[in-house]
Amino acid sequence: MLGASGRLFAPRSLSASYSLTIPPVIGPEAPAALAELLRRAVPSRLFVLADTNTAHDCYPLLLPQLPAHELHVIEAGEDYKTLATCTQVWSWLTAQQADRHALLVCVGGGVVTDLGGFCAATYKRGIRCVGVPTTLLAQVDAAVGGKTGVDFEGFKNHIGVFQEPAGVFIDPVFLQTLPPRELRSGYAEIIKHALIADADAFAALRGLVVENVADWSALIRHSVGIKAGIVAQDPLENGPRKLLNFGHTLGHAIESYLLTQPGREVRHGEAVAAGMVCESWLSVQRGLLGPAALAAIEQVVGASFAKIPYVLLEIEAIAAYAAHDKKNRADVINCTLLRGLGQGVYDQPITPAEVLAALRYYHQAEI
Ligand SMILES: NC(=O)c1ccc[n+]([C@@H]2O[C@H](COP(=O)([O-])OP(=O)(O)OC[C@H]3O[C@@H](n4cnc5c(N)ncnc54)[C@H](O)[C@@H]3O)[C@@H](O)[C@H]2O)c1
Ligand SMILES: [Zn+2]
Repeated sequence: MLGASGRLFAPRSLSASYSLTIPPVIGPEAPAALAELLRRAVPSRLFVLADTNTAHDCYPLLLPQLPAHELHVIEAGEDYKTLATCTQVWSWLTAQQADRHALLVCVGGGVVTDLGGFCAATYKRGIRCVGVPTTLLAQVDAAVGGKTGVDFEGFKNHIGVFQEPAGVFIDPVFLQTLPPRELRSGYAEIIKHALIADADAFAALRGLVVENVADWSALIRHSVGIKAGIVAQDPLENGPRKLLNFGHTLGHAIESYLLTQPGREVRHGEAVAAGMVCESWLSVQRGLLGPAALAAIEQVVGASFAKIPYVLLEIEAIAAYAAHDKKNRADVINCTLLRGLGQGVYDQPITPAEVLAALRYYHQAEI
């Protein structure tokens, strides 16, 4: 691109301050690699964002690797993934006189990495950001792929931008303090990555029970590889990135509906696990997937996830959320299905009647 002076300049995302973008570092070496990146990045100032849980459980483990910095702690949980919290973060950076050469390290689950990434991408038109994901879900999914954002007026991730962080540092040690329900939530995305892209990886999950996994490193490495590979082909989700939505059309509908039912809320991954069963069943109905494959999927899901209870009277209300999914175009419900184990197929239009049938199937299935 030619500037007004006739000098050649690169778009901002390719400018010097972003040239440190490196592939995710996964394993116990991650904190040392983070320290090395911070040394090379030479930020004017260093800022760290955490939530109340990760400030207590994770930040102390990272502290020995962090040079002088300021810490800001936000309230934990999806309820705080809002513009109001962003305002808090932007105010903090402003009060600290952070300039454009500052760098923000986000230590937390998907809420902190999504919200922190968005704050960094927008503060003074963008400062550098580094992700240190501390939930399994953020390690295999949220912190990889450059989607940042916050919820708005009841819509999830309604306001946001695509912005790759300067680095992502994934240390499984953080999972030691993660509640089992959160571990399971992340495991659903590991199953999803295997189902859409790698039949052998899926076969290796047969017999796995989340509580019994002693070391997640290999599973994380493999899962991140699949997601990063798909994102690299289609960073802005015009094509193959839609594969990552497998299980999410029905799963998101179940998750959204239960959010309106006090005491019945489920974690994202729990809903995705149910959604994968529904969408695998739809794949069988379309003749894309064999019944034995569906049985294998139900076995892997059933080994780690309890069935989500709802009554048949609720399926219309659940299905209504699928009709309003933001991934739809016009009135078509767009779904990702499976063409055999390990092969997703995106842009599969499904009808409201098929959504209802899938919910009916899940309701009676023995999982
Ligand atoms: N950007 C993306 O591509 C993408 C993909 C998937 C999900 N997401 C987003 O991710 C969010 C969900 O992420 P999440 O499940 O990590 O939720 P989260 O960030 O709310 O974390 C879950 C809970 O675990 C706590 N926690 C985090 N790490 C911990 C640790 N090591 N020990 C103890 N407690 C810990 C948190 O404080 C929180 O209470 C959603 O907002 C979703 O929209 C984004
Ligand atoms: Zn998901």
